Amino acid sequence: MTGGLLGIEELSRPEIEKILDRARAFQPQPGQAFQRTTTCQGKMVVNLFYEASTRTRTSFEIAARRLGAETISITASGSSVSKGESLVDTLNTLVAMRPQAIVMRHAASGAPHFLARHLTTPIVNAGDGTHEHPTQALLDARTILDRRGALEGMKIAIIGDIAHSRVARSNVYLLSKFGANIVLCGPPPLLPRGMADIAPGVALEYDIRRAIRDADVIMMLRVQLERLHEPLMPAGEYYRFYGLRLEHLSSASPDVMVMHPGPINRGREISSEVADSQRSMILNQVENGIAVRMAVLERVLLP
Ligand code: NCD
Repeated sequence: MTGGLLGIEELSRPEIEKILDRARAFQPQPGQAFQRTTTCQGKMVVNLFYEASTRTRTSFEIAARRLGAETISITASGSSVSKGESLVDTLNTLVAMRPQAIVMRHAASGAPHFLARHLTTPIVNAGDGTHEHPTQALLDARTILDRRGALEGMKIAIIGDIAHSRVARSNVYLLSKFGANIVLCGPPPLLPRGMADIAPGVALEYDIRRAIRDADVIMMLRVQLERLHEPLMPAGEYYRFYGLRLEHLSSASPDVMVMHPGPINRGREISSEVADSQRSMILNQVENGIAVRMAVLERVLLP
């Protein structure tokens, strides 16, 4: 296959820049809706989600429609997947319906890469297990660039369940290609030492206060309980050591941006005061998700 988007790891910096620049053209004016174009009219995008999603699935649907493409969404619980059909058989069935792109989310790391080797229809990875979530990293980069203009030299602290986070992994790949200084922080069981080696410019830190000191950006992550086989620590204890609260922000850069891919768990990894504060970029991220996915789908549909 060619022309899909499987991960950030395999993209070059100029390729990423091109997507981010194009996304900018799709950002709406303040108070306006997203523009509607017809460039992808007649194309069909299938969204195939084997894992729960609110933001990502809706965002891909809106993005496809704003480009003039048609879109249908299939979720595992309402499809033949729940009748025991294999992944390859489901995908072949969908391909026979001749879509121009398949957007997929799957719990198995590498599932979209595996399928991409067998199918000619381009695949866009909307999150594969604990591996990558490329459009999330792109929208995060767009959000930082909107405020700061550059990623180089920024101190970016990513805090929480690093071990199970495809968001962290994709962000590490992207941010390191742009020369950011990345600090990954979480309790030892959720912070594998190997993460320091996946890209240049990555440091590991167990202490949230040290991770946050002088940070330009703080990205908070949810503990992915669905991927944990045994309970980690009581929620209250996790929040005491790794929850982001207002008092933490005073040691960060004065105009620190607080980000979170969602869904947020208030009082677990982030306090309501921080999530709802002026520092919070959470809804800007959601908004940028549409612009970035328009750019990604356009790249796939109009090669
Ligand atoms: C993330 C995901 O699914 O990886 N959510 C998202 O896409 N916005 C993070 C998460 O589920 O915690």
